[in-house]
Parts: sequence; structure tokens; C-alpha cells
Amino acid sequence: MKRLAVFASGRGSNFRAIVDHTRMGILENLEVTLLVTNDANAPAIASARENKIPSAYIEGVLGRKFVTKQEREQARNEFDEKAVALLKQEHIDLVALAGFMQVLGHGIIDAFRWRIMNIHPAKDLVRFGGRGMFGERVHAAVLKSGMKESGCTIHYVDESIDGGPVVLQSTVLVEPTDTPETLAERILIQEHRTYSKAIQLHVDEKIKVADGKVLIDWSGGWEEKWNRRQEPFICSQMQKQLKQGALVKPAA
Ligand code: GAR
Repeated sequence: MKRLAVFASGRGSNFRAIVDHTRMGILENLEVTLLVTNDANAPAIASARENKIPSAYIEGVLGRKFVTKQEREQARNEFDEKAVALLKQEHIDLVALAGFMQVLGHGIIDAFRWRIMNIHPAKDLVRFGGRGMFGERVHAAVLKSGMKESGCTIHYVDESIDGGPVVLQSTVLVEPTDTPETLAERILIQEHRTYSKAIQLHVDEKIKVADGKVLIDWSGGWEEKWNRRQEPFICSQMQKQLKQGALVKPAA
């Protein structure tokens, strides 16, 4: 059984989707062991409690003001050191950043090389990733650019910001009437499906990283089996959308 820690700073819907995949028996051979947050008031903490998953708050740089760059760096390093100690103590195999609003330093990246994944709500990480590109800012930039499609990317974390080897991407078409909020909503649905798939590929040791690129072994009908297993989760997502009136019920 592999042990996963999720790092989240906010709402935590990706965290919940991963937990749901394990609860529904879709994500196999994986236990969500720990939630780490750098915001003591993150709603994700309540989700962890509901699911009896321990959470740890480690103060980072989020929401704090620093007089000098060095002070900021020191606070970041202190977060990283405490996080590495906790991850080692908890025998964590894989870390999933899910709406984690803080750049990780070299120490933690090196200690968990190719064992930290991140999700970003865009496909073009050169244009719509990097420092300061998070949440709705990403979608506003995509709309402003006139791109016809966007989506989400799961990648391993390296020393660049949003530039590590890409594991999986999903595409969402941009509608002419989209606002950053409507685009974010449709992409989030794909995020919730795609992150668990990437995590399962990692857990199943189907991913190799060579020369900064990801190679996936899809042999043995892996994807078909995954799609079949994931159907109940997709149905539950659609039921929620129906309840919210976001889907039109087909005529009987
Ligand atoms: C998600 O859309 C995620 O892709 C994005 O923040 C949101 C978190 O939502 N991450 C970034 O922008 C990172 N650069 P959640 O808290 O509901 O999972």
C-alpha cells in the first residue's frame, strides 16, 4: 500500500476527489495518509477531518509580509524542512500538490525527486503557468489570449515553476460566452478525473522519467481498465451537476 500526502491551501476540491477515488475503490493500493496545509483556515482541513485523515498545518509564506527577500526565503526553507521531516516520519511515498499556493524549494524537491506531482488549471504551461499564475488569473489570461482550448495538466515538480515533466493533460474547449468562473468550473471537473488517473499510474509504477520527459507504459489495457473503474466517480460528478442544474436531464 503506497502512502499519499496531499498539500492544499484552500477549498480542497481536488483533495476531496482523490479521497473519493480511494473511498470508492477506484484508486487502488493507495492510502491518503496526510493533508498538509500552509493555511490554518483552509476548508480542506474540514474535509480531512470528515474523512478521518490527519492534517498538519505548517506555517509557510502564504498571507505573510516580509521585509526582505532573505526573510521570505528563510520562512520558505523552514516550511520545507518541517514538511520533509513530517513526510519521512509518515513514510510518505508520493506527494500531490492540490491548490497548494506556495513554491517548493530545492531541498524538498530533491528529497522527493519525481515523487511530487502538481495540478495546474491550464494546458499551455509556458504561457499560462509560472510565478503568479494560479486560480482564476490563469483562466482570465487564457480568455484574454483568445485561445480556443484550455484544460489541466498534471506534472512532476522540478526546480522550475510549473515546468516539470508532464504526466497527463485534459482538454476543455473555450466557449465564446465563457467567463473565468465558467471556464474554471468546467476545467475543475476534468481536474478531479485526471489527477487520480495520474496518481494511479504512478502507484502502478507505469511512469518513467528520462531526459526530463515522462514515458508511460500503457500496456495490458491499463487505460481501458482505469476508465471502467472510474465510471462510478464520473456518474457521481454528473449527478451533482444535475442537482446544481448545470446539466439538462435528457427527455424521458
Ligand atoms: C485548482 O483549479 C488547481 O488546478 C489550481 O487551484 C485550484 C485549487 O482548487 N492550482 C493552481 O492554480 C496552482 N498553480 P481546489 O482547492 O478546489 O482543489
